[in-house]
Amino acid sequence: MRAPDSRSELNASAGDHISPLDPLGADSGLAQLPAWNESRDVNAIAAALADLVPAEAKAQALGPFEACAAVRDLGMLLGSLKRHGVEPAEAVPSVVPALLTLGRVCGMVPRDTVYHYGPWNPAGVRQRRFTRDPNEDGLIHCVRAAAPGVEACIRALVDAQACEPDTALFAERCRHAARSAMAMVDSINFARMKVDVMFFARVLRPYFEAVTIDGKSYMGPAAAHLPLSLVDHLTWGSDCTDATYRLFQEDATHYTVQCWRDLSRTAASGPSLVTRVIQALNTSAPGDPGLTKGAVAVYAILRVLLAFRGRHKVMADKAYEPQVRLYPVGSGGFSTDVVTRILEVTLSRTRELKLAVKGRRNSSLHPPSDIAALLASRGATSSG
Ligand code: HEM
Repeated sequence: MRAPDSRSELNASAGDHISPLDPLGADSGLAQLPAWNESRDVNAIAAALADLVPAEAKAQALGPFEACAAVRDLGMLLGSLKRHGVEPAEAVPSVVPALLTLGRVCGMVPRDTVYHYGPWNPAGVRQRRFTRDPNEDGLIHCVRAAAPGVEACIRALVDAQACEPDTALFAERCRHAARSAMAMVDSINFARMKVDVMFFARVLRPYFEAVTIDGKSYMGPAAAHLPLSLVDHLTWGSDCTDATYRLFQEDATHYTVQCWRDLSRTAASGPSLVTRVIQALNTSAPGDPGLTKGAVAVYAILRVLLAFRGRHKVMADKAYEPQVRLYPVGSGGFSTDVVTRILEVTLSRTRELKLAVKGRRNSSLHPPSDIAALLASRGATSSG
């Protein structure tokens, strides 16, 4: 069977194809990167980068999967140079045209992203890492493990969009979306156990600082760029006018893979699922059991998002306390105020849905029992 290899097929599961690739022959050099970073050996890092940069003809000849693997490997060296105070494009100017070409081949920004660092990063001995610290392995695991669930959630939401909110299929697809999004709750629970916030704030965060490529600044591989913002967009956000939410959403779209960028722009012109359910509640006969099930299923997605966001905010706030942080903003370029604001707007859209159900049905919303059980098993409450 043909291995898929086109820009439109770049997503988390393409990691099965991308992670084994080593198109620049970077395996042995990158194995030494944690040691070079420890000894701040900027010369070794710059020399490795200069050595790996592909010539224009080679960069152009790479397929999207190989090009992603190449950006992943160059990216580890970019982030390392920047961490030591060196702007990579100044130290190794030839990297700029190479990244621009590779970015075009992939249909992505000319820099490594959370996809490169997470799902496209080989696990095991070939894993690309900045440090030797197991906390970093923990963070890589978090984004690698969360991405497929987030994408499965997006697909289920697209399927739900195609249904009327009072149908059994709509409710089933939304429940599937909620179950898939649970990967974010698992991921943040894992981070709480395995990633020391102080390690992130003081040791790892500097490797994700922005670098300048061809006069433009690009943030590093931030978990903030997982396509959870597209889950928001489809579920409650496409018709949300909150300025902070919109700014963040637009920025995250810029850093994602082509298929999610395209979907995000299409979704922006339609109503979100929350809005569709509220509209249907306001116009339907009271007591329509199909619609109540639809509302309950959309509510379940919101509960899962809130469970992730409540826990994530605690970690983000700790790492960016003024006396702890080295930078005022996160690796995605936004402050923790944005984390708080997105939590608030998720909560406010959830309340709108609850009020609409209360008004039309005089009943409270609770997630379906299977999802309530999943939340409870992860220590999250299913009410609120
Ligand atoms: C030490 C752990 C963490 C810290 C300190 C942290 C910090 C932050 C900060 C400051 C932001 C604001 C945007 C930006 O990065 O510029 C953010 C956003 C975000 N982070 Fe994290 N984060 C951590 C772990 C994680 C993990 C494990 C995940 C999931 C795998 C994650 C997913 C997200 C997402 C999706 C956003 C976008 C905002 C939202 O959807 O609520 N983060 N994080």
